[in-house]
Amino acid sequence: MDARLNVNREEVVASLGGEEAVQRMDHDARADALEEFLSGRLDAIVAARKRGKEFPTVAEIADKVDTRGYRRGTGKLFMHDRNIQNPEAGNTGKVRKLAPMPEKPTLIDFFKLRFPPAAHLLQSARLARKNGLSEEIILACLLHDVGQYLCYADHGYWGAQVVEPYVSERVAFAIRYHQALRFYPDPSVGYDYPEGYLLMFGSDYVPLPHVQAAYTYARNHKWYMDARMVTTNDLYSFDPNVQVDIDEFTDVVGRHFKQPKEGLGNDNTPVSHMWRTMVIPDAPL
Ligand SMILES: [Fe+2]
Ligand SMILES: [Fe+2]
Repeated sequence: MDARLNVNREEVVASLGGEEAVQRMDHDARADALEEFLSGRLDAIVAARKRGKEFPTVAEIADKVDTRGYRRGTGKLFMHDRNIQNPEAGNTGKVRKLAPMPEKPTLIDFFKLRFPPAAHLLQSARLARKNGLSEEIILACLLHDVGQYLCYADHGYWGAQVVEPYVSERVAFAIRYHQALRFYPDPSVGYDYPEGYLLMFGSDYVPLPHVQAAYTYARNHKWYMDARMVTTNDLYSFDPNVQVDIDEFTDVVGRHFKQPKEGLGNDNTPVSHMWRTMVIPDAPL
């Protein structure tokens, strides 16, 4: 066993559906489950190593904090393209000027004027449609990382909250819990631990306690599969050559996103300020 493949008990218990579920298992079932948990993570590491990749440890990633002029949790509307190690990818190290928004902005306006290119969201939604998922889940996929425009850290919670007044409870649930589920394999639907997380979080990363608890909660919820479907259609290595237009989803948005007539940001909900902040991220105060 790889020495860097550290796991703690809570993480394994959470992956098995919580303390009660573990109590119900006999000794053999527990051993099998542990084996499955470890092999899921180990497979991701081994597959990556085969391709010649090495991943940093949590400590190595933490060491880089004070080499940056920003924090990794900063929302993407407030910073230049964060891929600063790769200027060839078109990163200029500057933010771009934003076009003015209409007086009564719709969700589609945000996709056209604030979120571009939004390729990850659009391609995830297209994949969900291709996979025959319900319109609600297509919408959840379209919006699943919308929180990242405000804040990367805990983006599932930011994302669910910002859309909560306008979507069904089920869509908000799927968005909120996709964040935690991303850390936990589900072989029943072919979902593995993402290789990208080994790079982003470190090869020996253990999800934070609130993420472990959210996983346990979601795993036992009647809408578990809705949140899980967001993770299985969550394309983290998207194809730069595939162009998807938001117009492909105006029908789904029209049916399942309750667009306020005053415009997002002007409708006096508990999250209106979040939309206003995305309208004017250049505001000094
Ligand atoms: Fe996400
Ligand atoms: Fe995503």
